[in-house]
This record gives sequence, C-alpha cells and structure tokens, in this order.
Amino acid sequence: MASVSLRNVRKAFGAVSIIKGVDLEVADGEFCVFVGPSGCGKSTLLRMIAGLEAISAGELKIAGRDMTKVASADRGVAMVFQSYALYPHMTVRDNIGFGLRMTGHPKADIERRTNIAADMLQLGAMMDRRPSQLSGGQRQRVAIGRAIVREPGVFLFDEPLSNLDAALRVQMRIEIGKLHQNLKATMIYVTHDQVEAMTMADKIVVLHSGVIEQVGSPLELYHRPRNMFVAGFIGSPKMNFLSGTVAGADAASIVLALPGNARLVLPSQGARASKGQKITLGIRPEHVRVQAGGEGSVDGTVRLAEYLGSETMFYLSLTDGSDLSVKADGFARAAAGSAMTCQLPADACHLFNEAGETMLNATLDR
Ligand SMILES: Nc1ncnc2c1ncn2[C@@H]1O[C@H](COP(=O)(O)OP(=O)(O)O)[C@@H](O)[C@H]1O
Ligand SMILES: [Mg+2]
Repeated sequence: MASVSLRNVRKAFGAVSIIKGVDLEVADGEFCVFVGPSGCGKSTLLRMIAGLEAISAGELKIAGRDMTKVASADRGVAMVFQSYALYPHMTVRDNIGFGLRMTGHPKADIERRTNIAADMLQLGAMMDRRPSQLSGGQRQRVAIGRAIVREPGVFLFDEPLSNLDAALRVQMRIEIGKLHQNLKATMIYVTHDQVEAMTMADKIVVLHSGVIEQVGSPLELYHRPRNMFVAGFIGSPKMNFLSGTVAGADAASIVLALPGNARLVLPSQGARASKGQKITLGIRPEHVRVQAGGEGSVDGTVRLAEYLGSETMFYLSLTDGSDLSVKADGFARAAAGSAMTCQLPADACHLFNEAGETMLNATLDR
C-alpha cells in the first residue's frame, strides 16, 4: 500500500503546456477519482504517475519515495486501460499471469496469485478461453486481474468502464468498489463521468484545462463548489445558472434581482456584494420547488416534460428567455406550453461573481 504525492507537477508537449502545476496528496488506501471534461489532462496526469509519460517539472512521490525519474516497472503501480489491451492469442489464465512470467516469478507463485485474482473477479470458469470468447465486462475483469496479480501499492484506472453498456458499468462500478474494500490498496481512477466519480470516490479531483479546480469528498463538491465550473460539472442533472444583479446588500443579506422580475433575499453569510453588481445564481434542479407565490418565485413556461416514473423533469423558459430545469416528484404533471411558477428556496441557492468564483454556497447541508 502506498500514498501518492504530487508537487507542482507539470507536463508540456513541445511548447504546449498540458498539466499546469498540480499539487495533490492521495492517502494510503484512498480511492481517488480524477474527473473532468475530455482533453483536460486526466490521462496525461495518470500516465505521469504510472511512469508512461515523463514529468516535465515537479516532483512525484509514491510511498514517500521520489519516483520522478524511476522506471514504470519499479514504481509499484499497475494500470488498467479503457481498451483492455489483452493479448488475443493467449488464454485468460495466460493473460493474467503474463506480467509475472516476464519478471521471472516462480511458477507456483504465478499460479497462486492468478487463482486468487480469478476468484475475486469470478473468472474461474473461463480461465481457458481467449479474449474473443469473452464479453466486454469479462475482458475488463481480465485486465483488472492482470493488475491484481502484480500486487501493486497503487492501482491506476484510465476510464476502464467507458466501453461497457450502461447496466454493466453500474455493475462493474460496484465490483471495483468491493475490490477496493478487499484489497485496501490505493486506487486512482480517471473518468469523464461525474456519476462514476460521485459513486466511487473517497476523494474527487476536478480537473479543467490542466489545473485542479477543486479537491474534496463527493458531498463537499456537491454542497460547497468553489466556483461555477465545479458547480456545473458535479451533479446530475446540471445546476441551473441564472444571471441577475444585486439590488441591495447590507451586512446581513443580499437582495437579488433575477430574470422575470423575480426578487430573492439571501442571508449574506459574510459575503460582500455591492448594488448593481452582476452575479450568477446557482440552484440545482432537485432544489427548485414547483409552487406558486412569495419571495423567490419565478414564472416560466414548460417547454418539455420528461416522465421517468421515479421523478419528473420539467424544462422551463423563464419570461426573459433563460432556462430553468426542475426535478419534481414522479407524480407531477404539466403539459408543454403551460405556465408554471417555481420557488427558489434561499437556503438552496449558490451565488457566483462575474469571475465565476463562489461568493456563497447553499446552506442546506449545515
Ligand atoms: N503525446 C501527446 N502529444 C501532444 N499532445 C498530447 C499528447 N498526449 C495528450 N496530448 C494533449 O493533451 C491534452 C490532454 O490530453 P489527455 O490527458 O488525454 O486528456 P483527457 O484524458 O482528460 O481526455 C489534449 O489536448 C491532448 O491532445
Ligand atoms: Mg483520457
């Protein structure tokens, strides 16, 4: 088992800077997820930890040892790729044991470790098959088995479930979670899917254009995003953003003017705002209430309703044309084109300044 520590880690390809100074501590035994949009540098960062990509500047430590210039094979890490990367002509058994054979492990040891991994991954019945005789989920399990037998201190996963269908992804997500509990190894897992990040992680690292936007537990990121990027990226369906202005502010409260002549008073929580200042109000669809009247009400027209059974999603246009998504209970009904008034509860509202930085977060979780 091993901790991973990055200090001001940078990567440039030629003149193009891709990773722009990353500081990060992953604790021993932690399940850490790197999440961010495609192209933000997740794989590059993971490959630098794996030793598959040289580090342009900065320092990498694994289990307290400087690994910046250590060869990949000597870092005590094992990586699982999206593409599985199995040998098509080898059986499952040989694929799993291949790495150990290459490093000259004794035969009995290879057999023992291979059998343990096969048990853990329920591959026992298919050890003599070739990859072409396996489903996508089974192939990815073989790739994970190949990592397990190496008994690494750190497992590195690069979008391992992206090639699987939705139901299988959910199942494999749970299996990898159980594996983490059994092995108690450090795991770093890359995904662009925030639901995977939320469900699997002890710690989420939100990356954007080669910089860390925020590090925190799933619920910290959900309740207390530091900026609009994290607020918009974490949570599904996405947080609503409404443009508005500060109509008045004192030590205790901030009064907002919102689309469609709506007015909302938020407790200031120590945040400073000045009259006339442009702001963005953030509120998650699950926190908007379908109910008429009073402070913080906004009027809109239902453009689309999605009936999911467990919940109903309404997509509204407000009177000024801005969009509002609302997650209501599964019994809610409204026809497209009908008018709807919603309430934005003050304790569910986040406020962002023009630079997209958080001025105040919702207080629901306190
Ligand atoms: N070997 C390379 N040479 C040049 N540019 C690269 C190389 N590898 C990755 N990049 C660029 O670095 C950026 C980040 O890529 P990557 O780490 O794969 O993103 P992610 O995994 O988050 O989708 C992308 O713009 C990609 O084009
Ligand atoms: Mg990638």
